[in-house]
Amino acid sequence: MITHQQQFSINDLRSEIVGIDTIVPLLDGSSRPYIFLDNAASTPTFRTVMKCVEEFLPWYSGVHRGTGFKSLVATEVFDRAHEICGEFVGADPDTNCVILGKNTTECVNKLSNRFGFQTDDVVITTVMEHHSNDLPWRKNAKVIHVGITADGHLDLVALKAAIRQHRGKLKLVAVNGASNITGIVSPIHEIAGWVHDAGARIFVDAAQLAPHREIDVLPDDHPHHIDFIAYSGHKMYAPFGTGVLIGPKKFFEEGVPDMVGGGVVDVVSLESVAWNDPPHKEEAGSPNVVGGVAVAEAIRILENVGMDAIAEHELRLLEYAYGRIRTIDGIQLYGPTDNLAEKVGVVTFNIEGMHNSLVAAIIGTEAGIGVRNGCFCAHPYVKQLLNVSPEEDRKFTAEVLAGNKSNMPGMVRASFGCYNNEDDVDALLEILERIARKEFNGRYVQDTCSGAFHAEGYEIPFHKYFSFIDANRPVKKRMYSEAS
Ligand code: ALA
Repeated sequence: MITHQQQFSINDLRSEIVGIDTIVPLLDGSSRPYIFLDNAASTPTFRTVMKCVEEFLPWYSGVHRGTGFKSLVATEVFDRAHEICGEFVGADPDTNCVILGKNTTECVNKLSNRFGFQTDDVVITTVMEHHSNDLPWRKNAKVIHVGITADGHLDLVALKAAIRQHRGKLKLVAVNGASNITGIVSPIHEIAGWVHDAGARIFVDAAQLAPHREIDVLPDDHPHHIDFIAYSGHKMYAPFGTGVLIGPKKFFEEGVPDMVGGGVVDVVSLESVAWNDPPHKEEAGSPNVVGGVAVAEAIRILENVGMDAIAEHELRLLEYAYGRIRTIDGIQLYGPTDNLAEKVGVVTFNIEGMHNSLVAAIIGTEAGIGVRNGCFCAHPYVKQLLNVSPEEDRKFTAEVLAGNKSNMPGMVRASFGCYNNEDDVDALLEILERIARKEFNGRYVQDTCSGAFHAEGYEIPFHKYFSFIDANRPVKKRMYSEAS
């Protein structure tokens, strides 16, 4: 557990990473410490977070219900965890509540279900969203998707026009703080001003922003205030299953919770139910107390280092990466490549003439580097960045529906965390240069169904890597990009 006296610097964070020295096998029979460049998907754990969880577990007990000493301690810790999550983004604790759920996806679904949209109510979102900030709105409201500019930025002119056009019916504008594909950081406060002028509210999906930048939702009465925001522990070094949703208490005081059960009520009779106050009302069932403690501790570490120091470090890594990646033959880069301060640490690319899944498989199998490929749960944005025509899109969709993902368009993404260093970037660039020169060793075969490539002869004896996997268990070939 981080003490009040302890001071972390950016240089301490690498040794904070659980598994930083994990050795993995390569195709040629050698092995090397795994290089984790898939932080936009999920980050590893801070050691101090793990220790904090260990410190907490002897106190683990049911919260808000039990009368035992441990319940009282656990409840106090869990309540404080809520406060820390709110303080992290500057939310006013008197008027806002912090709801802890499973992840950002669950938080967005909750918010969408809780809005009580009427027929014709409009939600504006954008084509650059993760599906989590798109599909939950489509389920419950009339959704308008604002487009992007040629270089992948949110089209702010179109957004402003759409907000004006739908004034009256417009209930919410849902945008990301940073894109999981290009890393582009959008001007959320400026957008908030337009949204409030139109009498609507703004939700920011901060899953990709919170680990990389300081966030301040601003005072409630500020014209540029962010009304609702969500982020995830698993993208900020606390992968223990907690997502954070913050919004006005008043909003959650009204209406019926989307999920009901234990903990959400003050009193129940066979005829009536009286709901508890938020956040209890919105956290049905026994909550994930450990996850809440973990995300709060991760926040304490990030704040101790300073979000500006983290942003600066990640910018230096991006500049280093882009300085050399542009020189690789046949590399195609997506999103901004010059003004790197306007994006978080994400490098998205393809190598001309090669399937994105093949490139990702080689990076993993021959260099021991974890990246992600495909459409990153943001199909519309990826297809637009790749200039996929509506006709081609229909063709790919028909193929996928027929069980063939081999031609699905996609990209490869390397994403940095606060602990990555130039050696990690060098390792990525070296394998990319080799791939571009076609100097990889394996013979890769594609699985038509998933679209994934697999190196012949590269079988993983999973039982060697985790205790409860039985050596006799039939080995399923684990493919890269099994889901998108
Ligand atoms: N949203 C996560 C990603 O971009 C899972 O990979």
